Amino acid sequence: EKGGYDWFMLKEIAEQPQAVADTLLGRLGPAGELVLDEVRLSDQELRDVDKIFVVACGTAYHAGMIAKYAIEHWTRIPVEVELASEFRYRDPVLDRSTLVIVISQSGETMDTLMALRHAKEQKARILAICNANGSTIPRESDAVLYTHAGPEVAVASTKGFLTQVVACYLVGLFLAQVRGVKYADEVGAIVENLRKLPEHIATVLDEMEPVRELARNLADENTLLFLGRHVGFPVALEGALKLKELAYIHAEGFAAGELKHGSIALIDQGTPVVVVVPSPVSRGSVHGKVVSNIQEVRARGARTIVIAEDGDDDVVPYADHLIRVPRTPTLLAPVVTTVPLQVLACEIASARGLDVDQPRNLAKSVTVE
Ligand code: F6R
Repeated sequence: EKGGYDWFMLKEIAEQPQAVADTLLGRLGPAGELVLDEVRLSDQELRDVDKIFVVACGTAYHAGMIAKYAIEHWTRIPVEVELASEFRYRDPVLDRSTLVIVISQSGETMDTLMALRHAKEQKARILAICNANGSTIPRESDAVLYTHAGPEVAVASTKGFLTQVVACYLVGLFLAQVRGVKYADEVGAIVENLRKLPEHIATVLDEMEPVRELARNLADENTLLFLGRHVGFPVALEGALKLKELAYIHAEGFAAGELKHGSIALIDQGTPVVVVVPSPVSRGSVHGKVVSNIQEVRARGARTIVIAEDGDDDVVPYADHLIRVPRTPTLLAPVVTTVPLQVLACEIASARGLDVDQPRNLAKSVTVE
């Protein structure tokens, strides 16, 4: 049933091109328009939205962080992202014109469900992004967008995550469409690029042998640091979480710009640092700043593992290991840059002789608060 793979996780990583294609299936019209008939919120309700909360746990929370960048940029609606376990305990300001997007692969996560119920009591509209059909969270929501990733068996979420991110893009673009698109040209280009994502993920997966080799090489490390900026920041957090939960190695993700405010002190001779580099065409040129960060950590002894777009030559002199990904618009890049980090964590755990599919102390769906 693992389809020839050693682990369900490897099988699910390999299924990602198809999973993402299935999330998109039937939702992009021929003229690039979004077709989300299943979102049972009226156009008027969607036009009335003046604030969005994205609420989730763990990996799904990282998807929510990426959603914030995309949805705010496309819709100009303020978006806050919050851990479900924190959300209702701080008395968030919610009313009829608040849209709460809850993200959950299993649809059964208790923290997320309790946050949803709290938001509902305050009259907010609830849109669930969920994978498990008919689970509790979508049942209690006003509307649901299913990710259609297929069953995810491995405890660590992979295709669940990528498809959550893609579903968030669809919601953002749909809101922009209903409300009168501000960035009309850009949105058209984004839709074209969404269609290319499955192919880009497949390209990354075809080139994973060097990552597997690197993983064997890193198997005895005690610490790995992950740096990213803009949407690369949640990708760094996700890479670190995967490594912690699978390989039991201490790992931390940082916003690259925060490095100089403290965490750079952690860098020592040989410390492996994974850097998710934004596209050289990225907004406001954070690219150059991240390249400087790579130089800075390397000058302090770090061993740099750099994930960068094809054709980005600026990183070459500072990368001890270079992992290439296809060129993708900045906001969509997490769908490709996360993939090598999933493989890295999975292969490091494998090399350490651990049970990749069933890490210690973890359950697939967390039905207690
Ligand atoms: C990490 C992981 C968890 C889940 C989290 C939320 O790989 O799988 O962090 O993402 O427990 O689960 P769902 O999405 O089912 O609500």
